Amino acid sequence: MKIALNKQTDHSLPEQIFQSISDRILSGLMIEGEKLPSVRKLAEQLEVSLVTVQKSYELLEKKQLIERRQGKGSYVRRSEQKTVETNPYNWQNMIEDFLPRAQTWMEMKSFSREYKYNLSLANLSHDLLPVYELTDMITKVIRDEPMILTKYSPGPGDQILREVVSEYLVDEGLVVPADKIVITSGAQQGLELIAKTFLGEGDVVFVEAPTYIGIIDILKSRGVTIKTVPTNEEGMNLNILLQMCEQFSPKFIYTNPTFQNPTGTILSEKKRRRLVDIAQAFNVIIMEDDPWGELRFEGSIKSMKSMDENGHVIYLKSFSKTISPGFRVGCIIADGKILNKLKASKSVSDLGSPLLNQRIIARFIQSFNFGQHFKKMNALLLLRRNLLIETLNDLQIEGLKWTVPSGGPVMWITFPTQVNTEHLLIDALKQELSFLPSAMCYPNEPEVNHLRISYGNLSLNTYKESLKLFKEVVKNHMESLNPFTEDTPLF
Ligand SMILES: Cc1ncc(COP(=O)(O)O)c(C=O)c1O
Repeated sequence: MKIALNKQTDHSLPEQIFQSISDRILSGLMIEGEKLPSVRKLAEQLEVSLVTVQKSYELLEKKQLIERRQGKGSYVRRSEQKTVETNPYNWQNMIEDFLPRAQTWMEMKSFSREYKYNLSLANLSHDLLPVYELTDMITKVIRDEPMILTKYSPGPGDQILREVVSEYLVDEGLVVPADKIVITSGAQQGLELIAKTFLGEGDVVFVEAPTYIGIIDILKSRGVTIKTVPTNEEGMNLNILLQMCEQFSPKFIYTNPTFQNPTGTILSEKKRRRLVDIAQAFNVIIMEDDPWGELRFEGSIKSMKSMDENGHVIYLKSFSKTISPGFRVGCIIADGKILNKLKASKSVSDLGSPLLNQRIIARFIQSFNFGQHFKKMNALLLLRRNLLIETLNDLQIEGLKWTVPSGGPVMWITFPTQVNTEHLLIDALKQELSFLPSAMCYPNEPEVNHLRISYGNLSLNTYKESLKLFKEVVKNHMESLNPFTEDTPLF
């Protein structure tokens, strides 16, 4: 009996063998009275243990699909005795996919949308984004340029938008001609394009630990080996990274150096220069993912792309955090052959991003006062960050630590090691409160005692209510872990 087993899925081997045989019986491929191979023979054939096959036969017997006759073997039962509930798609459980984390992420995103006190989405609320100004621009563009509805965008992006983005980036300290900009449907598509263009089995990629959850499946789906670089409040440890370069010859280093998601930390200018030097020395490509750079409470910092002389850095920018996430407009900036490959890759992937969205964003950037907008937006974000710090101080938990981000919408909170934040999340969800537990942010061995709070996602009042709830949920959870306090009578 030929059964294709997949050791990578969530389904155990006995379950898979059970599923395969039960499908044959229920589809009529194996008929009443037919003898099944002996446990020993099937185990040898499938190269699994006897116990594995034994367990699958027990399951088949429990579901009344087979009967086991003492000393004679196992036989398919009479049809009226088969009571198993059938799901026509069960056979699909055995199909291997290459996105181990995506399902959980999608579910997390949708559950967090359903919950009122959503501190898990790294998104910005309507009072932080220029919603009304954008609405006016949408109407204007459709009225003024209806004919763009009849056209595809050029693959690498609308020329008007590429020129506007080139000018916009000058204010961010980056001088790049429009020709080096590829418009993408958000930074997420940029990451995917880079991975599918340049990465495959056998390649090694370094990421920060913890890292942006959205890069993990992109890399895993390419079959690459992901190595994690230890990271603290000052970003990646470059001494260790250097040793790792010697040892593993990475092709790419993925980093989110400004207000890193999930830790909120920033890689200093000095370290950025050193990282670019390391990339040059080892012929590595850096993916510099920068969706949050404009959301700074103080100062400014140079991008690695602005320090890159030989085309080692691919820079990604997004307008999801500064204008609108739903428009799905972002871009990649690269040089040389890498740039040309990415332009071709984008063209073949989706024949160009939606032209209407690109033109609206272009006209919007041309007319909008970003200076004023960022001042207001960042002041509001800072206020929220400080409210979170007050809440954490109020908790008075020994060993509770947090980063203090100087921009961006997320803060990383570390609990004493006995706390598993996935367990804390179960308590939180009962109160309609959500956050991102740390286990999701590690591609390899996870740390489980941290969590990420996004303080930009809710309107101010709901956010304040969430913080109150968060305090309560954490207090109760900590008490449940340490039921014996000084006040607990001993007898
Ligand atoms: C670090 C990082 N990269 C990429 C993205 C995806 O951004 P976009 O909405 O532009 O696809 C996000 C979204 O939160 C992010 O935090």
